[in-house]
Amino acid sequence: MSQRMQQGQPMIVMSEDSQRVKDKDAQDYNISAARAVAEAVRSTLGPKGMDKMLVDSMGSVTITNDGVTILQEMDIDNPTAEMIIEVAETQEDEAGDGTTTAVAIAGELLKNAEDLLEQDIHPTAIIKGFHMASEQAREEIDDIASDIDTDDEELIRKTAETSMTGKGTEVNKEHLAQLIVDAVGQVTVEDADGNNVVDLEYLNIETQTGRAVGESDLLVGGIVDKDPVHDNMPTEAEDADILLLNEAIEVEETDVDTEVSVTDPDQLQKFLDREEKQLRDKVDTIADLDADVVFCQKGIDDLAQHYLAKEGILAVRRAKKSDLEFLSEVVGASIVSDLESATEDDLGFGDVTRDDEDELFYVEGDDAHGVTLLLRGSTEHVVDELERGVNDALDVVAQTVSDGRVLAGGGAIEVELASRLRDYADSVSGREQLAVEAFADSLELVPRVLAENAGLDSIDTLVDLRAAHDDGEVQAGLNVFSGDVENTFDAGVVEPAHAKEQAVTSASEAANLVLKIDDIISAGDLSTDKGEEQEGGAPGGMGGMGGGMGGMM
Ligand SMILES: Nc1ncnc2c1ncn2[C@@H]1O[C@H](COP(=O)(O)OP(=O)(O)OP(=O)(O)O)[C@@H](O)[C@H]1O
Ligand SMILES: [Mg+2]
Repeated sequence: MSQRMQQGQPMIVMSEDSQRVKDKDAQDYNISAARAVAEAVRSTLGPKGMDKMLVDSMGSVTITNDGVTILQEMDIDNPTAEMIIEVAETQEDEAGDGTTTAVAIAGELLKNAEDLLEQDIHPTAIIKGFHMASEQAREEIDDIASDIDTDDEELIRKTAETSMTGKGTEVNKEHLAQLIVDAVGQVTVEDADGNNVVDLEYLNIETQTGRAVGESDLLVGGIVDKDPVHDNMPTEAEDADILLLNEAIEVEETDVDTEVSVTDPDQLQKFLDREEKQLRDKVDTIADLDADVVFCQKGIDDLAQHYLAKEGILAVRRAKKSDLEFLSEVVGASIVSDLESATEDDLGFGDVTRDDEDELFYVEGDDAHGVTLLLRGSTEHVVDELERGVNDALDVVAQTVSDGRVLAGGGAIEVELASRLRDYADSVSGREQLAVEAFADSLELVPRVLAENAGLDSIDTLVDLRAAHDDGEVQAGLNVFSGDVENTFDAGVVEPAHAKEQAVTSASEAANLVLKIDDIISAGDLSTDKGEEQEGGAPGGMGGMGGGMGGMM
């Protein structure tokens, strides 16, 4: 090898198809990709944010305002952009709401970092400054947050309403907020130290199309959207023993294809008798267990249906797996996968009632608990967006009930944080100081975009907000409906502190991850869509932002 080097020949260590982008180019490439993603969701932020319509390759349509859903549905084909999408996903997992905010802040951090890089500030100084600012911001959030009484239902309802403003949930937000607060209340228990613990496992969301959103309801127990398998069965059962079965009540089929040849009619009869007996035995087993109701995930043979009806047992077939799992919590039953070995202990206990109008069963448990939020809307798209909005609000309420720390929204918290971080920057020496200041500026993106999306002048708004905060009005935010700067907390725009902490942290970590890269080495073109046919060879790859992006910006 040394011989070849001496001869002055370049040594090839990478395959011909691979691509490499270095130093400044790598930073530019990464920063623009990340900013493109942030830009794509910005217009959806806040009560006056718009929605996006996403059409996937199969032609199915999603209409949404939810940051994480937009990014997941967009056909993004770029490694850096995918890192930013992870910010939204982490925010969704950890906090449930604030995904647009987190991504928008990450984009703004990188935009401001780009300016610092232009001034020849080394990326490591920026990274360190961002990290310091983010740690400080967390402390400040904790300091600014108000501790509320977790029994203060009105305030908690406001957090739900704030989270739902500007989504498909908007028009019925009072009604839905009340349902959400009640639902969370039903699944909250106090632990030994007197802290609230919310277990959303006990809460199930069911959706139904064809009715108004205002008719959504909270039901104690679970729902099974099915009919009884036989007309002669009871449709209701009080104080019922309930069997949840994950095995078919059918004749057992052999694994291999078999052919039975019969030589006289008796033999055929015997064969049929055998099958009949098998079904009879299964139904007898169920009857011996004293089950009054059977929710079966698999099929039920016609003959077995008849036997079950004769025994006066209410049976439902092809119930959803997720319904069965939730019912097991509601009635305290185990899901039986082998009827032979089932015992009475596996059965649950509760009431089953029939709603003839909606053609579904309500199942209520006696000892175990569980509630179902039944969301209604006119069409599938309405219900889907409703479900996403309600899910965000559920997480927000759950956090508020268990954590108890809330903040003023409408940009109030961001402007206050920015002002405090600027003070903090004075105590930071070296170039990191500039990065801390850039971090403060980045947080102010939130009120700017809220104003922009509401058709207000973002500079004027920011000037007014800063002035109010300089006067010590910690909760001064933007009322997007009137365009005024006011105490948003008193106006009922309230957000959980935990979600904001998470948004600031994950935005800063993602920005730092991107800034640390000075070399991109890719085995093929710079695309993450390895499944698809790659056209045109390497150079085209740098475009990188899959087809869907173009129209977005
Ligand atoms: N009535 C209001 N007036 C002013 N600002 C509001 C009002 N209601 C909500 N906001 C603000 O809107 C922002 C939240 O907007 P949005 O719900 O669109 O984005 P997100 O929560 O960051 O992301 P996503 O909900 O998509 O996960 C917060 O900053 C919140 O304070
Ligand atoms: Mg939100």
